[in-house]
Amino acid sequence: MSEDAKQPLYYADYLQLDRLLGAQAPESARRGSPAHDEMLFIIVHQAYELWFKQILHELALIDGIFAADSLDDRDIGRVVAALERIERILKLLIGQLDVLETMTPLDFLEFRDLLFPSSGFQSLQFRLIETGLGLRRGDRIGFEARPFDARLSEADRAKLQAAERQPSLSDRIEAWLERTPFVELGGYRFQESYRAAVTGMLARDAATLGGNEDLGEAARRAGLAGLAAAQARFEAIYDEKRHAEQVAEGAWRLSWRALQAALFITLYRDEPVLQLPFRLLSLLMDLDETMTAWRYRHALMAQRMIGMKLGTGGSSGHDYLAEAARRYRVFGDLFALSTFLIPRSALPPLPEPLRSVMGYRYAGRT
Ligand code: HEM
Repeated sequence: MSEDAKQPLYYADYLQLDRLLGAQAPESARRGSPAHDEMLFIIVHQAYELWFKQILHELALIDGIFAADSLDDRDIGRVVAALERIERILKLLIGQLDVLETMTPLDFLEFRDLLFPSSGFQSLQFRLIETGLGLRRGDRIGFEARPFDARLSEADRAKLQAAERQPSLSDRIEAWLERTPFVELGGYRFQESYRAAVTGMLARDAATLGGNEDLGEAARRAGLAGLAAAQARFEAIYDEKRHAEQVAEGAWRLSWRALQAALFITLYRDEPVLQLPFRLLSLLMDLDETMTAWRYRHALMAQRMIGMKLGTGGSSGHDYLAEAARRYRVFGDLFALSTFLIPRSALPPLPEPLRSVMGYRYAGRT
């Protein structure tokens, strides 16, 4: 055993507290006019960056799991656990803005001008998280003629561009969904059975509308037009070619195969084997929602602090942030799928051979 290994571990050494707690250097003090609240501003940002590091650590774990040739339930369980952790961290990060808002706009003005041109806009780790989740360069809003990463240092830009060349979580999820068994197995075609169920459901709805004597002619016609529109939406999801056109138009991101699998998992989520995959899809939506909630909350805070002024990073400030909150969604397809859900009562039961491949049964008491 080395001399070093015999030493009892000391708390401050283990956590490298001298470095961590020595890393707050307010600009205002350095320039001879200390502003009390700058310490809070620095500590909140640093706490964010530490949590960003943890999120990236979890994303790397998830990526490693998905990179394997085959996945079993245990792997999906580990992915779900990591996504749950990321989701909780993101919620915590939203809460931290409450602490920062104890600083008033006037207090912020004491040191804001010293920050130009630095900004959270230059957070490499935040960009790595966005990219890792699946936000693409082309999805981003440009607020000047230069590319969005022009404000990063050369070294950071190289790291970000390397990350852009790797598969994102969105890519991994798409590939995983495309490999979902059960959607077509033996003689079973989910696509066909789903289509028959939808056609039956819409025909029943049309008959109910037609037979409703309490409805006036105008309301009946509006109802039937609504059903025809629903039918047209469903047609697009049955048809792989039409779907490919819609992907090109930007209406969908996931491939047709992946979308069918996501629909299948969502509709038949009560089957034991689909419960974890369903949990995974739900968590991706939670993640998208919480990222968006953070973006809105941060945009509102920025507006409260600086009103309509430009950001220190050079954007239009609140307007840019609000637009990013509206647009930067990665798993929007999973939300859009809800349009195509049908009630459990209209769902065709799975054929018995398929159910027995998919499920397990607890034997009754003897
Ligand atoms: C007084 C508090 C804050 C104000 C007034 C503020 C303001 C802004 C503004 C105006 C932008 C747009 C870019 C620019 O022109 O600078 C921005 C971007 C950003 N800020 Fe903040 N911010 C604050 C605190 C924070 C904190 C605590 C974090 C945590 C790390 C943060 C993270 C970010 C990130 C990641 C971006 C890039 C967002 C994107 O491009 O979608 N900000 N901030």
